[in-house]
Amino acid sequence: MAFPPPRLLPLQPTSCAPRAVAARHHGGRTAPELSGPTPRVVVVTSGKGGVGKTTTTANLAASLARLSIPVVAVDADAGLRNLDLLLGLENRVHLTAADVLAGDCRLDQALVRHRALQELQLLCLSKPRSKLPLAFGSKTLTWVADALRRAANPPAFILIDCPAGVDAGFVTAIAPAEEAVLVTTPDITALRDADRVAGLLECDGIKDIKIIVNRVRPDLVKGEDMMSALDVQEMLGLPLLGVVPEDAEVIRSTNRGVPLVLNDPPTPAGLALEQATWRLVERDAMTAVMVEEQERPKKKGGFLSFFSR
Ligand SMILES: Nc1ncnc2c1ncn2[C@@H]1O[C@H](COP(=O)(O)OP(=O)(O)OP(=O)(O)O)[C@@H](O)[C@H]1O
Ligand SMILES: [Mg+2]
Repeated sequence: MAFPPPRLLPLQPTSCAPRAVAARHHGGRTAPELSGPTPRVVVVTSGKGGVGKTTTTANLAASLARLSIPVVAVDADAGLRNLDLLLGLENRVHLTAADVLAGDCRLDQALVRHRALQELQLLCLSKPRSKLPLAFGSKTLTWVADALRRAANPPAFILIDCPAGVDAGFVTAIAPAEEAVLVTTPDITALRDADRVAGLLECDGIKDIKIIVNRVRPDLVKGEDMMSALDVQEMLGLPLLGVVPEDAEVIRSTNRGVPLVLNDPPTPAGLALEQATWRLVERDAMTAVMVEEQERPKKKGGFLSFFSR
């Protein structure tokens, strides 16, 4: 099956691009305020598989880069990596952290810089089907994060895309993190896993945990057939970084290797992820009023009307 080629990505967003929408929502500012020590090491995790970790990582990374905030996105899924696909970089990953640790190359050689988003670099833990990284200790990414911290131009963010589950891959992925973005869908199985993972993160000393509720269907929430983001927040007892609706464009953007936040015109999920990026940078969270407004029935265009005002 042939997919349309990726469009050229604008470095400067157009007037209706998500950044402009976000700016309208953030009092006219064109970039969020980054404060405190950097690099900030953030793991994107979930417990349950398939809830949107990689989608979230790719879009947060692309959004940061477009805001001129340097970011290294790390694919910590040693066995089944796919962050490279979502970023359209699959043909450019020749070296990985495994090669660096084996002494075959330098770390900067394993970093793949996105051509259109110059502030975005990708680091993969290993090549698919490679057995070597599975034998690495949990300190692998701690070493990578330390090396990036000491680099001549350290990134402002290191975003780690965590594998599903809570086994060795999870332990490796969370090891260097100081903050976590916990992705969940609004269903009871994902929530139970998210709750367990939140506990494990806290045990590991990661206290700054924020939730992204993904694949929300306002029509189902309205009919009380799906938990609302507020229900999820209350159940997990953690601040909300974002509420991302179910959006058919996600699969299209995945197949094109162009993160959703770069879509022009923006789509509901892209806008939600763009705004989550602002909150991440500003260490902000959604308020109950904002969440309720997003979940309001679609009279004025639903999610889009909220994000576009
Ligand atoms: N908001 C959304 N709307 C529609 N589809 C979505 C949305 N978010 C994610 N998806 C789809 O869900 C599937 C899983 O997403 P993704 O690969 O990001 O999850 P994951 O948590 O990284 O999975 P894994 O645990 O296997 O690593 C993909 O097909 C993706 O396109
Ligand atoms: Mg994934």
